[in-house]
Amino acid sequence: MKKKIAITKGDGVGPEVVDEGIKILKLITNYTDFEFNLVEAPAGGNVYKQYGDNLPQKSFEIIKSADALLFGAVGLPDLPPGVAESAILKIRQGLDLFVNLRPIKLYEPLKNRCPLKEEFIGEGIDITFIRENTEGLYSNYGSKLENNKAESVMLYTRKGCERIIKYAFEYATKVKHQKITSVDKANLLKPSQLWRKIFHEIGEGYPTLAKEDIYIDAFCQWLIRAPYKFQTVVTGNMFGDIISDEGAFLIGSLGMASSGNIHPGKISMYEPIHGSAPDIAGKNIANPIGTILSIKLMMQESFNLMEIANEIEIAIDQALYEGRTIDIQETNIKTMSTQDMGDLIANKLKESLKK
Ligand code: IPM
Ligand code: MN
Repeated sequence: MKKKIAITKGDGVGPEVVDEGIKILKLITNYTDFEFNLVEAPAGGNVYKQYGDNLPQKSFEIIKSADALLFGAVGLPDLPPGVAESAILKIRQGLDLFVNLRPIKLYEPLKNRCPLKEEFIGEGIDITFIRENTEGLYSNYGSKLENNKAESVMLYTRKGCERIIKYAFEYATKVKHQKITSVDKANLLKPSQLWRKIFHEIGEGYPTLAKEDIYIDAFCQWLIRAPYKFQTVVTGNMFGDIISDEGAFLIGSLGMASSGNIHPGKISMYEPIHGSAPDIAGKNIANPIGTILSIKLMMQESFNLMEIANEIEIAIDQALYEGRTIDIQETNIKTMSTQDMGDLIANKLKESLKK
């Protein structure tokens, strides 16, 4: 199977972590029947400085012609907020990537890196956040910035709610979750009232799945109080942005968390959820695991390569007993650079792919 992967390295630590992701893609090409051809599609702040455009037409054409996109991070401290970052939104909107799949899983070797006491961790943390990725406060609809007034409209459409909620129910069913949680603010916001209604309409088609509604504020509390209670969590764009960062730190570091911006059956984009982290850029210390786990997601969601996805996860879990980047460092475990951590994981994966 031959596939074309567009690569956007981006700004800050983006190029460093993406290089480790590329190692994994090359390894899969060398040791399996799957062949990934990589083509760079530059975007972000550095590109903006050079061409006055954070997503040049040429890059977007490359992305549109690819089977999947691996994306690093964008954002530079000397540019006004949003100038680099809006490249992400152009891709999400432009490719109609309505699903933002954000799994958070506390791996066994990182248990003591979780900021929660053991009694709150309970049976462990393994949650899939499914965030609506094109609407809500991110839709641009009605948004304006004036001198003394600014507006962003929280737009939820029936079509937008239906497709993401349906996706979440199907996802929960596929991975055999027993419960699905919907997060909203239906005690105040009209868009949430529509969302909640649709959640229950669609839920009727899934009688064996337990359903619950939680308000966003209460959810933020429950996420640190009893994270083991949650399995599939579906929510709107803004709420999903916030709870996925909260969740990411529960698994030890923002650097561990991965995401897929997905339109099922079409080109999708995979990126670590951390940003460009300019303060540590160029130091070879960023955690590459968020990116490598994003490749795991790419394998499972875009190419249905479940076995390879599983092997990537096992390689990461094993590597964490032997080496760590500084964000999750541990006495008795070797502190490693971005590149060495990438090599360690790649070597473990190579052994299993050889078999
Ligand atoms: C994310 C990021 C983006 C978002 C920013 C950079 C626009 O925080 O992917 O979560 O808010 O969606
Ligand atoms: Mn975010």
